[in-house]
Amino acid sequence: MEIPDMSSVSKYQSLFDFEGISMTHYLTDNWEKVKNFQARPDDILIATYPKAGTTWVSYTLDLLYFGNDAPERQTSQPIYMRVPFLESYIQGIPSGTELADNLPTSPRLIKTHLPVQLVPKSFWEQNSRIVYVARNAKDNAVSYFHFDRMNMGEPEPGDWNTFLQTFIEGNRVFGSWYDHVNGWWEKKQTYSNLLYMFFEDMVEDTGREVARLCSFLGLSTSAEQKEKITKGVQFDAMKQNKMTNYSTLPVMDFKISPFMRKGKVGDWKSHFTVAQNEQFDEVYKQKMKNATVKFRTEI
Ligand code: A3P
Repeated sequence: MEIPDMSSVSKYQSLFDFEGISMTHYLTDNWEKVKNFQARPDDILIATYPKAGTTWVSYTLDLLYFGNDAPERQTSQPIYMRVPFLESYIQGIPSGTELADNLPTSPRLIKTHLPVQLVPKSFWEQNSRIVYVARNAKDNAVSYFHFDRMNMGEPEPGDWNTFLQTFIEGNRVFGSWYDHVNGWWEKKQTYSNLLYMFFEDMVEDTGREVARLCSFLGLSTSAEQKEKITKGVQFDAMKQNKMTNYSTLPVMDFKISPFMRKGKVGDWKSHFTVAQNEQFDEVYKQKMKNATVKFRTEI
């Protein structure tokens, strides 16, 4: 596969308010097309707050649907081409809407980080299936910090404490983690074609979560196939796999931090100071006081 030319991406992007959400221009420049995107009834939308396990679930779904298809798909097409990032509009690779419009597969697997209220309305009209993945706020923040350090398409993170304060304020790309996970959780109560998954559950028992996905999607994947997929999507396998580890995307500098970094639950403990943890817990209690969704910060 050809390595995309992303040399025109300047170092670190600025944030601005877009419909009440912090965004960068790479995610809003194509807004008319995103907003008017034509979903299909068999589309599967993979929705997450950034760094909650998007790639993990994307690859799992790709294997469930297309793992037995032409081997070139698995060996020459990076995951970001197989599962287009809907709102992305960045030099060097086709826009998310263009990639999605041209996907030859059925179903189409499409990724988004949009908060629920900004999802193009055709997904709701078509009653497309949606898999939402959420990750506990502390690990999500740590993973996001390292991602913003190494990805030149992201805003500058500053040091860990600076980053953490902006995360708490909802001032990172795609806005507030709290609003995102709660908004999607509420949607689940009225939209039955939505499966709400947790990163922590995937780490705890990947096989069980693969089976949950199959049952939500109505797939009759054999036990043997499920086992094979469960092995194929383990952290080490995906880290070694050039098609899933993002090593083909030059906008990321793996010398700073790899995309497949640790893949753990509880890594926040090696980042949060006692004071940061106390502050975080206090804010969390406030912001989540009406929330019914529950997260695990350790397993
Ligand atoms: P860490 O930075 O904590 O390692 P996204 O795909 O939404 O950007 O999420 C990336 C995070 O998911 C990274 O977290 C990455 O390591 C983790 N991840 C990706 N694939 C994984 C897997 N197979 N097992 C465990 N974690 C995985």
